[in-house]
Amino acid sequence: MKNLLILGGSQQIGRRLIEKLLQHKSQEYSITVFNRGLTNPHLFINDDIEKVVGDRNTSDIEKITNRDWDIILDCSCYRPIPLKRFLEAIKGRVGRYIFISTISVYDYAQGVDKSKAKTEDFPLLKFSEEQITQEGLKFYAQKKVAAEQFLLESGLNPIIFRPHFLYGMYDWQNLDYYWIERIKKYDTVLLPDGGKDAIHRTYIDDLINVLQEAFTIEKHNSIYNIITHSPISLKNYTAEIAEILQRKTKFISIEKDILHKEKVRPVIDIPLWSNGSHFTFDDTKLKTDFNTNFKSHFSSLEETIAWNKKIAGQKEGKSKWEAGKFGLSREKELKLMGLS
Ligand SMILES: NC(=O)c1ccc[n+]([C@@H]2O[C@H](COP(=O)([O-])OP(=O)(O)OC[C@H]3O[C@@H](n4cnc5c(N)ncnc54)[C@H](OP(=O)(O)O)[C@@H]3O)[C@@H](O)[C@H]2O)c1
Repeated sequence: MKNLLILGGSQQIGRRLIEKLLQHKSQEYSITVFNRGLTNPHLFINDDIEKVVGDRNTSDIEKITNRDWDIILDCSCYRPIPLKRFLEAIKGRVGRYIFISTISVYDYAQGVDKSKAKTEDFPLLKFSEEQITQEGLKFYAQKKVAAEQFLLESGLNPIIFRPHFLYGMYDWQNLDYYWIERIKKYDTVLLPDGGKDAIHRTYIDDLINVLQEAFTIEKHNSIYNIITHSPISLKNYTAEIAEILQRKTKFISIEKDILHKEKVRPVIDIPLWSNGSHFTFDDTKLKTDFNTNFKSHFSSLEETIAWNKKIAGQKEGKSKWEAGKFGLSREKELKLMGLS
């Protein structure tokens, strides 16, 4: 049995991975999770999993540095300096280090040609000591750039994945909810700017399959973009939802200038509308080195819709769109479409 340590394990990536390993009754891995016990502490209480409770940015981390690990999957790194200390402490005690980074590490202000998919070599954001030592979520992307750099310098031969927005089971942001609900409930729905924006995201179950392959892959690169479907327009995305829900929804396009004038905010008021600021990413390296076949976008949406149906009515853990804090009000949407 291989010792698998998951830093995190209780929100989306780690949670779904553990669920899959347990589903398949895998005897291959003995699983340990390390987190603060704050997020979903009730998870996996009856399962054969070791739970170590602690904050990775404090001396709690010593609870896991005095042991040997075949694989460490790091889902919870938001602060690079404590990561650097951790990497020093586990030197010689870890077989494979897999790190979850983000597509936000790129410096999008540099030479942005939207027609070209960004490869892993695209320039990264620069960071300063001051930025990466700040607590909280500020400079999230710069901190991930620094974390990647420390990992590459560590001599651990890591595998670093850069996912885009995750969707599917346990997606705590659940941008899809807005569109699924709208299309389910109403015959006419506002589509921003002809639905021209491209959506390029990472489906959780495809990511999990790649991670499992990464546990044992022999020849690998250090860094991979991981985007699990070709770019799809918002127009085609909404059409796919309507088809899955068997709805004959009429989508009414409203020009972006009108939306700006009416102070409709991209993403917050209309999720997945990026107001033309979308980028696409190259996944040639991933597809060359990994065998995992990704689901079609349509199938991933079918599963996402099924999951949304399953969690409907749940009181806890709602995203800001489900809780009604974000998202265009129906009154305003009708007004913008000229239907009120
Ligand atoms: N969601 C997205 O769209 C997206 C996109 C790109 C990249 N990512 C990356 O994906 C990773 C998050 O994945 P996930 O949430 O799905 O992973 P997960 O393994 O399911 O959960 C992460 C867990 O880390 C724990 N954690 C957070 N801070 C900690 C700390 N200081 N010490 C110990 N444990 C800590 C949290 O549990 P406790 O609160 O109990 O400690 C949390 O539940 C992050 O690295 C993020 O940058 C996400």
